[in-house]
Amino acid sequence: MPEELIPIYIMGKRYEVPPGLTVMKAMEYAGYRLVRGAGCRGGFCGACATVYRTAGDYRLKVALACQTVTEPEMYIAQIPFFPAERAPYKLHELEPTFGTLVKIYPEVLRCLSCGTCTKACPQDLDVKDYMAEAMRGNIAAVADKSFDCIMCGLCAARCPAEEVQYNIAILCRRLYGKYLAPKSRHLSERVEEIEAGKFDEALREMKSLSGEELRRQYNEREIEPD
Ligand code: FES
Repeated sequence: MPEELIPIYIMGKRYEVPPGLTVMKAMEYAGYRLVRGAGCRGGFCGACATVYRTAGDYRLKVALACQTVTEPEMYIAQIPFFPAERAPYKLHELEPTFGTLVKIYPEVLRCLSCGTCTKACPQDLDVKDYMAEAMRGNIAAVADKSFDCIMCGLCAARCPAEEVQYNIAILCRRLYGKYLAPKSRHLSERVEEIEAGKFDEALREMKSLSGEELRRQYNEREIEPD
């Protein structure tokens, strides 16, 4: 027996789609070819932020199209991206301080702690909490608490104070990575070795091998040498 279809609306037009499809798959089932607003399809890249309403509820909701299952009578709208303020800066000219955050994103001080951002986050990040850390100038804490951010922009899209939480957070992660995170001694030693040409000969040799030989050596390599 054929599966019963459910009605949904995409950009105001009614379609019938099989139940259980994500918004992204339902759109494709309805004939849309997604050239923008789609990426990994797995909830990681943040490209598919979507606006929708459900039957009987006047509120506009936001979600990732690849992670949200359609409901009967759902109204779906896609916009190509969520516009948001993104300040230009040169990381190597900055200092990892509260002053830097405020200078680059003065709106950081406008946060009202309303929590709308936290409710909008498809990653279940406590955005309000990391914004409180930003207002305290705790860059390491912002970097840590926003680590799973996928930059979809839904927090900023819903913020009544017009903050750009995800851009503030990536600035903190960059500052943390460049200036505050403990340095990896092994990594700098390896970079020095590479720059000194230690692996040049081995690379030359590898480039001269056939595809088959390369595959054999790859498969037989020592995975965790002592
Ligand atoms: S397509 Fe990458 S998060 Fe949805």
